[in-house]
Amino acid sequence: MDYIDLRSDTVTEPTAEMLNAMVEARVGDDVYDDDPTVNRLQKLSALAMGKDDSLFVPSGTFGNQLAILVHAKRGDEVIIGEGNHIVQHEAGAPAFLAGVQLRTVKDIHGHVKTEEIESLIREEDLHHPQTGLICTENAHSDGTVLGIEEMRDLYLLAERKNIPVHLDGARIFNAAACLGVEPKLLAAHCDSVMFSLSKGLCCPVGSMLCGKSEFIKRAKKIRKLLGGGWRQAGYLAACGVVALKKMAPRLSVDHENAKYLARRLDEIGQIEVEKSRLDINMVFFNIKAEGFDHKDFIGYLFKNSIKVNPVRRGSYRLVTHYWIRKDDIDKTIEAITNYLER
Ligand SMILES: Cc1ncc(COP(=O)(O)O)c(C=O)c1O
Repeated sequence: MDYIDLRSDTVTEPTAEMLNAMVEARVGDDVYDDDPTVNRLQKLSALAMGKDDSLFVPSGTFGNQLAILVHAKRGDEVIIGEGNHIVQHEAGAPAFLAGVQLRTVKDIHGHVKTEEIESLIREEDLHHPQTGLICTENAHSDGTVLGIEEMRDLYLLAERKNIPVHLDGARIFNAAACLGVEPKLLAAHCDSVMFSLSKGLCCPVGSMLCGKSEFIKRAKKIRKLLGGGWRQAGYLAACGVVALKKMAPRLSVDHENAKYLARRLDEIGQIEVEKSRLDINMVFFNIKAEGFDHKDFIGYLFKNSIKVNPVRRGSYRLVTHYWIRKDDIDKTIEAITNYLER
């Protein structure tokens, strides 16, 4: 990469091993179910999540929306944390595609009180929509990880009320690395889980939707309906196989680098690092200088070959990943220090 790109882990390009795997992949027509590499990736993904089966889909958004389409009926209500990706960054797709109504619950960086969710579950009433699904997100894109107990409590409530739970686990491997557990221990507390191959795992494209066999069968039909029957997808799936074997186990390196970045930022003085959300590969911070020119700051970093996203709700978010080494962090710290000392 020519730039030190700290905008997101979605900017990661495939590794040399992935590119080789693409060239050597054995493929077939996945719509006929005969792409051996897609089938292998689906098997490995289901195994990793402790589910019966899985489906390779083009994106995380696609996987989340398929889950809603399969679990909920038109007119149902879906309970979800107000800061979740499905609410904030999927372009209103649940209303547009599944025709469901989102009932948002206050969350603190993804943490939601189970009692609050319980209070929103609808009783049978002529006037009410039916609660058709509860969605959760772990790791949360606010940089936090929900603990196993938190997930278990939510799932026990959902089971008691007979409502399915879908987990947006775009970064479930990060959550698992943070907690030091297998991802399937987290996925045990949901009916379906989507995880992304194209973020910290470095694949160019793709996500996996995992769940019971019947659920995946229905998801596959809707994936086709939406134009997602993607033929020789094995070339992309080949990267996913490498990702599961080689990239998932190394995510703790990105987490350590994020902590190193946070410590170095904190030492600068005029920067306030949000230490309460330092669970994964994301560092959030504020700059305390009065009248600070954020646009000029981002422009300065860009001229120094460093890409960062604009400030959002007062905070910067820097994301470490496979292509960010420790010396890239040192260069970033040097540029930020130089800017603040000008
Ligand atoms: C938590 C979370 N869920 C879902 C997605 C959607 O993934 P995609 O960009 O592949 O649609 C993202 C993407 O950044 C995400 O951060």
